[in-house]
Amino acid sequence: MFAHITGWGKALPERRLTNADLEKMVETADEWIVSRTGIRERRIASDGETTDSLGAEAAQGALAKAGVTAESVDMVIAASCTPETLFPSIANRIQERLHLKRAAALDLNQACTGFIHALAVAQGFIATGQYRTILVVGTEILTRHVDWNDRATCVLFGDAAGAVVVQASEEPGGPLAFDLGSDGNGGDLLMLPIEGKLCMNGREVYRFAVTAMTASLIAAVENANITLDQVSLLIPHQANSRIIHSAAQTLKIPLERVFTNVEKYGNTSAASIPVALCEAIEEGRIKPGDIVGMVAFGAGLAWGATVLRWTSQVA
Ligand code: UT7
Repeated sequence: MFAHITGWGKALPERRLTNADLEKMVETADEWIVSRTGIRERRIASDGETTDSLGAEAAQGALAKAGVTAESVDMVIAASCTPETLFPSIANRIQERLHLKRAAALDLNQACTGFIHALAVAQGFIATGQYRTILVVGTEILTRHVDWNDRATCVLFGDAAGAVVVQASEEPGGPLAFDLGSDGNGGDLLMLPIEGKLCMNGREVYRFAVTAMTASLIAAVENANITLDQVSLLIPHQANSRIIHSAAQTLKIPLERVFTNVEKYGNTSAASIPVALCEAIEEGRIKPGDIVGMVAFGAGLAWGATVLRWTSQVA
């Protein structure tokens, strides 16, 4: 059984925080932020917004796009590292908000690689024949967990949610292969304690990021028995445009075949790839038959990549 992405949706808080706004909060400069990261602004959740409200909004869009009713959803997986409560899970809340009466619900925390891991879990459930329709949501409110006095981290992150509907089909399509992995040795380099603020060794994470993105995408491509040339669009985790450009250069993938929107949203962790996927579709950069690559790295340290054959009409 194949696992096709048949719907997609995103949710972005309205409030924008620009680099000029940040210049008034910490000792930084638009020029520093743009040249080191590519980020120009990020979204900030309002007091009333939660990871499940953003996640549900994105999921609603994905269900509508897929033409799937709430009753037919078998499972909802919410990838997030910023839940408001340890339990109930974000997925439980989304299940309730969207009246997904039959759906099993689970959260999956693998930080910035959460969406890719969740997609792999969804594909597994579909491949075994256990479930036919799964909602995969990436949702984060990171700006409540950054130290707004730490200029080295507070300029990097933003809030967002993205979602896809994954459906079983006997027609070939969907993920051709995955590569997932982790190296717990680097766990201290990027951490969000339960009581505390996000802390990071930026230089070390940067070094890891370029190597991990490159190696993981190559592994996924090899697992799928295809070549990098066949990847028509690469959607990398949107953490930093320098990291993305450097990985693309090593992989010899021209930038026209690499999607970026980090300038608008910053690093939104598990939400970044599904939001980028939605925008790539909106911009007409994906069509049926294309092979789309997705690759992410992040806390753990962890990495993940997939290459999938796109099958849905996008108009
Ligand atoms: O999903 C995974 C999330 N993590 C990442 O993707 C992070 C990966 N790392 C990075 O993207 C980069 O390491 C950063 C963008 C975080 C930092 O860039 P860098 O070129 O590695 O800078 P650095 O940490 O080596 O710092 C260079 C200088 C330092 O000053 P001194 O010690 O040279 O005087 C910092 O204090 O830049 C200073 N600095 C800043 N200056 C202005 C650090 N943050 C800022 C800032 N504005 N916001």
